[in-house]
Amino acid sequence: MKALITAGGKGTRLRPLTHTQNKHLIPIANKPILHYALEKVAAAGITEVGITTHQAGNEVKEALGAGERWGLNITYIPQEEPLGLAHVVKISRNFIGDEPFIFYLGDNMVVGGLEKFIAAFYEAKSNCHLTLSRVKDPERFGVPELKDNRIIAIEEKPAHPKSAFAVSGIYIYDSSIFQAVNNIKPSARGELEISDAHQYLLDHNYSISYSEITGWWKDTGKPEDILEANRLILEHTQSRVAGSVDKLSLVTGEVVIEEGAQIINSVLRGPIVIGKNTIVDNSFIGPFTSIGDNCTIKKSEVEFSIVLNQCEITDVGVRIESSLLGAGARVVKATVRPKTHRFMVGDQSLIEIR
Ligand code: TTP
Repeated sequence: MKALITAGGKGTRLRPLTHTQNKHLIPIANKPILHYALEKVAAAGITEVGITTHQAGNEVKEALGAGERWGLNITYIPQEEPLGLAHVVKISRNFIGDEPFIFYLGDNMVVGGLEKFIAAFYEAKSNCHLTLSRVKDPERFGVPELKDNRIIAIEEKPAHPKSAFAVSGIYIYDSSIFQAVNNIKPSARGELEISDAHQYLLDHNYSISYSEITGWWKDTGKPEDILEANRLILEHTQSRVAGSVDKLSLVTGEVVIEEGAQIINSVLRGPIVIGKNTIVDNSFIGPFTSIGDNCTIKKSEVEFSIVLNQCEITDVGVRIESSLLGAGARVVKATVRPKTHRFMVGDQSLIEIR
């Protein structure tokens, strides 16, 4: 079995971060989102991996290389435009050949391994195996209609969902999916929809089996999803201290402090991750926070947030919470009069002030 992983798309919901960075490289607990997919694929014993990327960008290839780190052999497949998930499958035909394959949306995070889904696909001897997750807002996703434990229809983002399940971003196919993606037409939004390909399979008497994801599953499309995925990953963090913590500091809970990091006269309350060479001085870092490398946090409080590399937070009078700071962002106390807020903010940024 091969794996096909997406790392293209537009990432509009994660602007401004995605103006300068591919969303799949945004870190969750200081590790790029895409690494989680690669680790799972490797753990399932798959070695041949295709990654689709927008053809204009090279950063995914530069970040992952040929995949040796995971024992993988990665082939990059450029997509000329984000024309839909079924389009991703369509352009990957040469890479896939006639083998069954797992199609994994690179911005999805799931607890546990892929082995059980692969085993269920082989056991069902189906043409397509979907993974379903119970969600509060199925209207945002592809939604299956179930009857007698069988999927009888699938609708993309329905106004009136016929079940409480979302089709999650992990799919297993045999080569009949290529017949489907080659025969469907673009939707009203101009994309070849994967839900339409699934419906095509159902309409042409191909079999679709499914597994329910019983643990958590996250589609990290929006900032709040990224923060929630960060929380879920950090929940399983185990303490590891390579940096230094002075005697005046108080550390509780599971805390990772990377090499070269210095914690000075501060309170750390895990689970948190502090990156390499980051300085935390006279500050409070609260639960579910990931701070990147080479940051400086002084006289400030940060909780339930993700702070990317090279950020500076100094003497901020209020606790920073539920926030995502892009690389090199600075939130600092103004030192000159008049006493005002001063902003230098990128396109589509969000600042909330109380
Ligand atoms: P989405 O999250 O549906 O789309 P997006 O990444 O363009 O984001 P937004 O809606 O915020 O603009 O995409 C799901 C996954 O599929 C994600 O890994 C990106 C990838 N993708 C492609 O690689 N090519 C495509 O044509 C599309 C639509 C998505």
